[in-house]
Amino acid sequence: MKNFGTQGKHPGRFGEIMKILITGNMGYVGPAVVRELRASYPEATIVGLDIGYFAHCLCTDHILPECKVDLQYFVDVRQIKKEMLVGVDAIVHLAAISNDPMGNRFEEVTMDVNHRASVQLAKKAKEAGVKTFIFAASCSMYGAAQDIPRTEKAPLNPLTAYAKSKVFTERDLEPLAGAGFKVTSLRFSTACGISDRLRLDLVLNDFVAGAVASKRITILSDGTPWRPLVNTKDMARAIEWSIIRDKNDGGDFLAVNIGSDEWNYQVKDLAEAVARVVPDVDVSINKDAQPDKRSYRVSFDLFRRLAPEHQPVVDLTRTICELKDGLEAMGFSDVNFRNSKYIRLKVLADLRDRALLTEKLEWIDR
Ligand SMILES: NC(=O)c1ccc[n+]([C@@H]2O[C@H](COP(=O)([O-])OP(=O)(O)OC[C@H]3O[C@@H](n4cnc5c(N)ncnc54)[C@H](O)[C@@H]3O)[C@@H](O)[C@H]2O)c1
Repeated sequence: MKNFGTQGKHPGRFGEIMKILITGNMGYVGPAVVRELRASYPEATIVGLDIGYFAHCLCTDHILPECKVDLQYFVDVRQIKKEMLVGVDAIVHLAAISNDPMGNRFEEVTMDVNHRASVQLAKKAKEAGVKTFIFAASCSMYGAAQDIPRTEKAPLNPLTAYAKSKVFTERDLEPLAGAGFKVTSLRFSTACGISDRLRLDLVLNDFVAGAVASKRITILSDGTPWRPLVNTKDMARAIEWSIIRDKNDGGDFLAVNIGSDEWNYQVKDLAEAVARVVPDVDVSINKDAQPDKRSYRVSFDLFRRLAPEHQPVVDLTRTICELKDGLEAMGFSDVNFRNSKYIRLKVLADLRDRALLTEKLEWIDR
């Protein structure tokens, strides 16, 4: 376990003192991360930083998740100034154009934000004296890999702009690690679960939304692709571990798959699991679909070995039940949800159509 500086900051659960900056905290995963870190380090200074694309896409009407941070910047990661990083001990870098459909539509921006700006942020962070940098990478970096579960040593095979942006960033972060700068690249499985800013463009969430709204799950592929999943709460726990891990747990630079072997599912298994929880659901598989090349099985041995106390604890059935309960509490009944504000690409496209964002996805008239 590591020590943080002390000036002007407060001790957390483990006795450390710290200030944590979370970029992209106003998205889908961010609120779970803020909640986890706030619970683990009640006295820490937690700073959020987000451009706010999806700030209005809340699905709960109680406390705004950002009320849990001490300071919120509305800033583009492409414009972060070094002064914002002074005194920060750890950065959790979630901000990104976060899936393949957005990456296809906004390819250049995806490379700019996810790759170039992320590497620049890490460089500035190191110069400013930040000790720990955690990058949200993705198992989609493995691309087509369904034969045997991929370990971190396996060759990467990114098939999309989004996956490539994550590969390039991880590659360029590695040489920055060392000399008191610890970098952890968390190759997350596909996220799932309820959130204050729910996304329904994620496979399990989509299935539960279909089941709740129309008693129908439509699988857009032939159902055979392998997709490891992880609940956002368990992503947050992996991030917490990355903050406290010391050099003996993986070295100055560590790339590690985040998820668990039990969560390596084929898409059709996920649909069937949802149908077991939500009664009278009809599952339709598109037998004529083109094979989905994005199919990968992943080995989580390294994460299990390094972080035995921070293994995923939320199982598939509980995740489905929480999604179902959350959607029902929202009065969710939109059968056209694939065209709604819960789809990240749709929100960005709407903001573009309303001339609120430039083609580089910068706010106009800020
Ligand atoms: N959701 C998943 O299945 C999954 C899986 C693996 C990895 N990840 C990674 O985890 C991270 C969080 O994912 P998420 O599902 O919460 O995505 P999200 O799209 O819900 O949230 C991303 C956040 O980043 C912000 N952002 C985007 N561009 C920005 C910029 N230029 N400056 C400042 N903020 C910016 C957005 O406003 C948004 O709040 C991403 O890096 C994503 O690639 C997600």
